[in-house]
Amino acid sequence: MSDLSLTILPETADDALAIERLHERTFGPGRYAKTAYRIREGASHRLDLSFTARIGTLLVGSVRLTPIRIGAAPALLLGPLTVEPPFRERGIGAALIARALADAKTRGHRLVMLVGDEPYYGKCGFKPVPKGQVTMPGPVDPARLLVCELAEGAFAGVAGPIRPDWDAA
Ligand SMILES: CC(C)(COP(=O)(O)OP(=O)(O)OC[C@H]1O[C@@H](n2cnc3c(N)ncnc32)[C@H](O)[C@@H]1OP(=O)(O)O)[C@@H](O)C(=O)NCCC(=O)NCCS
Repeated sequence: MSDLSLTILPETADDALAIERLHERTFGPGRYAKTAYRIREGASHRLDLSFTARIGTLLVGSVRLTPIRIGAAPALLLGPLTVEPPFRERGIGAALIARALADAKTRGHRLVMLVGDEPYYGKCGFKPVPKGQVTMPGPVDPARLLVCELAEGAFAGVAGPIRPDWDAA
């Protein structure tokens, strides 16, 4: 990435089609059956907490954050995270996550959840949720349910079902 450098920008309404195509190429129609999708269906992601990665003007990656509640506690659900295959393994995924977490923290958010691979997200500060502490509205491999505390101790005492936060979307 010599003269065409990477930029991470907040998502805008104009990005919707390019991101939808990226998700279709990456996850296919099976994405609609995922439990995390059920939550995202119930509340829109926040454009100001969702980011695109660009090389020049080309959109090469995206991450979205959606407001949720865990029991009564407000939190954010991270995902989907996607990077175009030719641009993977260059730190773009990590840069998208870092920017999303930093901006969420700046705005006073305290918890981010996701369903994903611990070996990958563990490097970005996510830890497995103790089994049974939270429940999703559908089947999820418990080992893939991860949480990142943006404030120390933010996950202590938080438990219950995860649902979309309609009021914060
Ligand atoms: C996962 C994804 C976003 C990573 O993007 P990326 O820009 O390549 O990520 P980074 O460059 O920040 O990190 C690459 C590193 O993560 C590792 N990695 C990538 N996916 C991984 C996974 N699922 N589990 C463990 N490690 C993984 C790579 O091997 C590489 O390791 P290295 O740093 O030791 O070489 C990208 O591979 C992708 O879009 N995959 C398909 C969609 C997907 O699976 N999204 C996540 C849903 S849970």
